[in-house]
Amino acid sequence: MNQAETFLETVKNRTSCRNYLDEDLSDEEINFCLEAARLAPSACNKQPWRFIVVKDLETRTRICRDGLLPGIPMPWLKTVPVIIALCAERATSTHRLAPLFSGVNYELIDCGIAGEHLVLAAETLGLGSCWIGWFKPGKIRRLLKLPRSLKPVSLISLGRPEKKTEPRSRLELKNIARINKW
Ligand SMILES: Cc1cc2nc3c(=O)[nH]c(=O)nc-3n(C[C@H](O)[C@H](O)[C@H](O)COP(=O)(O)O)c2cc1C
Repeated sequence: MNQAETFLETVKNRTSCRNYLDEDLSDEEINFCLEAARLAPSACNKQPWRFIVVKDLETRTRICRDGLLPGIPMPWLKTVPVIIALCAERATSTHRLAPLFSGVNYELIDCGIAGEHLVLAAETLGLGSCWIGWFKPGKIRRLLKLPRSLKPVSLISLGRPEKKTEPRSRLELKNIARINKW
């Protein structure tokens, strides 16, 4: 496989994992994923992403018990060895002022890119991951003792997959991309 094919394979193989083995991850594995996230591009290179790697069982249990919004049951999250809280540092003036002109939320885009780098890196290690956006921001803030400047953007579960999840369908390219004008 050439580099381009390997890359697309990684992207294709990444699916949201909701079945995990009861096994810890090594610091090397976690740091590999964080390093990929650290290298993400960002508007004006402001790098607003911050990561809290939650390994502690009690904190993870409290996130699962108190930190999730109702309506999407996520019992599988209790079995995940690592939950990464992806946060945005809101202090930079670029990210506060520029959206007033452009209407673009740069810090969310930046954090999204970093988070996707992280989950793709996890995939290359054979790890499973899942983005979790259905959480209570206030509860997560208190549980993780986030300063006011940090806004929780997403939780990302990380662990060893028990089984591979089947890929979900995607819109066809002809429905989402056009040449020169819409
Ligand atoms: C920003 C974001 C938030 C998400 N929130 C949740 C969530 O709260 N719970 C969950 O089980 N899956 C969540 N997902 C996973 C999506 O359901 C999943 O990515 C989508 O169905 C496509 O499936 P795939 O990831 O297996 O390709 C989220 C994904 C993204 C990108």
